[in-house]
Amino acid sequence: MRRFGILTGGGDCPGLNAVIRAVVRTVHPRGGTMLGICNGFAGLVLDDVRELGVNDVSGILPRGGTILGSSNRDDPFAWKGDIDGVRYEGDVSARALATARQHDLEGIIVVGGDGTQLIGHRLMQRGLPAIGVPKTIDNDLEATDRTFGFDTAVSICSDAIDRLHTTAESHHRVMFVEVMGRDTGWIALHAGLAAGADVILLPEIPFRADSVLAAIRGREARGKRFSIVCVAEGARLEDGERVYQGGGSLGGVAHRIAERLVELGGIDARTTMLGHVQRGGTPTAFDRVLATRLGVCAAEEALAGRWGTLAALRGDAVVPVPIADAVARQRRVDPRGELVRTARATGVRFGDE
Ligand code: F6P
Repeated sequence: MRRFGILTGGGDCPGLNAVIRAVVRTVHPRGGTMLGICNGFAGLVLDDVRELGVNDVSGILPRGGTILGSSNRDDPFAWKGDIDGVRYEGDVSARALATARQHDLEGIIVVGGDGTQLIGHRLMQRGLPAIGVPKTIDNDLEATDRTFGFDTAVSICSDAIDRLHTTAESHHRVMFVEVMGRDTGWIALHAGLAAGADVILLPEIPFRADSVLAAIRGREARGKRFSIVCVAEGARLEDGERVYQGGGSLGGVAHRIAERLVELGGIDARTTMLGHVQRGGTPTAFDRVLATRLGVCAAEEALAGRWGTLAALRGDAVVPVPIADAVARQRRVDPRGELVRTARATGVRFGDE
């Protein structure tokens, strides 16, 4: 009986369960056994694994999160945590490899973003074959045209902006809404476009507060006494500063920008930070389909014994690509690209005018 492992690492995102389900449902009928590794690579280090049968993945397709648990503090090469009740810091990759051997795993399917794929790649170099499935709501991996989770996050954000629109209009206010995306502005650009934001502020396009104020004043002059400013969490303040919240994650830049605009123009402003709401709940149909396709591709590669690849969307096709691509480059918004030009053509301002 051939045995394979699967883990989900890094921040969660809607669609992870759809991948797990697709992998299990592909491997089982072909005589394979799937082992779920709990809480990312921590499950390998701590030997926290469980067998996943077809019944274990029943009903999880529409569920957000991951039934396996995830972690972004579980790097076996730089471990910081308890092992058998004793605090340990250092390289425990040998333990991870031993767990895989003990359970007779032919290889593992690693579902995660760039950091997680890098760890999978390093374990593979030490002898544990791996196949990657990319995930992140940020959609910032060069290796794949689209990551699952992104469509869901954009839908949640555009729905929130629609709701902010009605209350902004009633109270003649300027609403600042901050969305995730780490170093890139994909979520802000797509959600802002989908929901008709008036100003979109991105990490890729430096802005000036006076230009944002001019956009708001321009709308007022046309009788529009409210505005929506959609801000990517990675946008930089005018002096180049990025804003972090406790715990080291980005967050709070929209609040700082709103404060500056109030100071500059005496506007009536309110700020909404959408936060982890963007990562929770049920995935959209698009993300479920994409996650399922990626899961099947990864499982088929594992069954064929072709390791060292990443299941990726290229154009309309899901194909295996070299795993090194996944960790190589970040995909950023092109300030002169078609999406930004489309937004500008419809009157969206980016604060650089
Ligand atoms: O990478 C996904 C993401 O949600 C980013 O958009 C965000 O900056 C970050 O993770 C938040 O991480 P955490 O959940 O660790 O606060």
